[in-house]
Amino acid sequence: MKILVIGSGGREHAIVWKLSQSKKVKKIFCAPGNGGIKEIAELVDIKADDIPKLLDFAKNNKIDLTVVGPEAPLVKGIVDIFKENGLKAFGPHKDVAMLEGSKVFSKNVMKKFKLATAGFKVFDNPVGAKKYLNEIGIPVVIKADGLAAGKGVIIPKTIEEGEQAIDSIMIEKIFGESGNKIILEDCLEGEEASILIFTDGKVVVPLESAQDHKRIFDNDIGPNTGGMGAYSPAPVVSKTVMDNVIKNVFRPLIDGLRKEGKIYKGVLYAGLMMTKDGPMVLEFNVRFGDPETQAILPRLKSDLADIMLACVEGTLDKIDVKWNKASCISVVCASKGYPDEYEKNKEILGLEEAGNIKDVIVFHAGTKDKNGKIFTDGGRVLGVTSLGKDIRSAKVNAYKAIENIKFEGMQYRKDIGDKAIKRQRLHSDIVRV
Ligand code: AMP
Ligand code: GLY
Repeated sequence: MKILVIGSGGREHAIVWKLSQSKKVKKIFCAPGNGGIKEIAELVDIKADDIPKLLDFAKNNKIDLTVVGPEAPLVKGIVDIFKENGLKAFGPHKDVAMLEGSKVFSKNVMKKFKLATAGFKVFDNPVGAKKYLNEIGIPVVIKADGLAAGKGVIIPKTIEEGEQAIDSIMIEKIFGESGNKIILEDCLEGEEASILIFTDGKVVVPLESAQDHKRIFDNDIGPNTGGMGAYSPAPVVSKTVMDNVIKNVFRPLIDGLRKEGKIYKGVLYAGLMMTKDGPMVLEFNVRFGDPETQAILPRLKSDLADIMLACVEGTLDKIDVKWNKASCISVVCASKGYPDEYEKNKEILGLEEAGNIKDVIVFHAGTKDKNGKIFTDGGRVLGVTSLGKDIRSAKVNAYKAIENIKFEGMQYRKDIGDKAIKRQRLHSDIVRV
């Protein structure tokens, strides 16, 4: 089988790495890829959202399966276009990719299928939005409707800050057309977790749970980022929570969409808040999470190519998805300045030493290869990942690996895994009592 993976992040490195273990996969291309992916796949110099060029490439190279990493091409309808051309692509069609492409669409779907989520109101003009903001006061969550590279959610500290956010999104159009509509939503409290499923539109198979770390600094301080590290499993997702989310979120959603003729195929990600009233949906993503995937896929025992093909072909009931009991943690090393403007082109040293440590995999994100040397090329640069018998030993090993890695301005959180370790300790105390 010949596979084309689209994207260039740590998530895509993890996907390519896992697919490369499949006996059925003879060749992997990645467009545009990064310095780490280059070692295990052939890089293709086409941008992830250049659908016409990707289509030509897939046709000319007789690609059997295209795996779409990021949301932008999915929301643009890449899976529909490939299908019209007789090509298989893993990911949802455009009509349901709108679950991520439009937060208004997504919230209305949640409401229609009675999924637990925060109360909300939609506005198409700043005057109405500000009037409502002044009525309800803070805390409140302000969300731009469309894609905003992970920056479209603002939780203002004051009413003035909220009014400023509304103006920035709706008048200054800092996210372009994505700010034509906004949502004002109740602010939920609790611990966050990510639950993803594989689905062919009928069968729903959960992946192992994970927890991301969105803020730049330790103890969840500082601005939001794309994600600074993740671990799997997330102890906050007990079996009861997982069963609840499958039964009350994913099943009604997938079944409800199917009854409307919308068959969701691919991977679906629910960002959840574990509130005192139970798990509530914050958002849906129509793709694998980044960096969750770097902590989840090393635990997958089954053949990822088989699973992906079964999602596309509607035969997921034939596949037994098996997981390794080990824990896994992935710590993101980022460039100086990230998540604001950051520096690039710094040579990265010590990758081989880190990668040689037992149970460690160094996934590349923003890196590029220049004549055999690896340089930084993005905000999030590496996902230093380790398996371990539990989160604590995975953490120790991942941070031991990071000690080998150096590039100018490198920053990373030191506390990835701590929430899980604390929760496990609490749990074992309760069990002991
Ligand atoms: P999203 O892009 O929708 O994942 O939102 C980004 C982050 O904003 C989430 O991971 C949460 O930390 C936060 N967030 C989104 N919606 C809410 C909400 N209703 N209450 C509290 N925090 C939220
Ligand atoms: N880790 C958050 C995301 O992938 O959107």
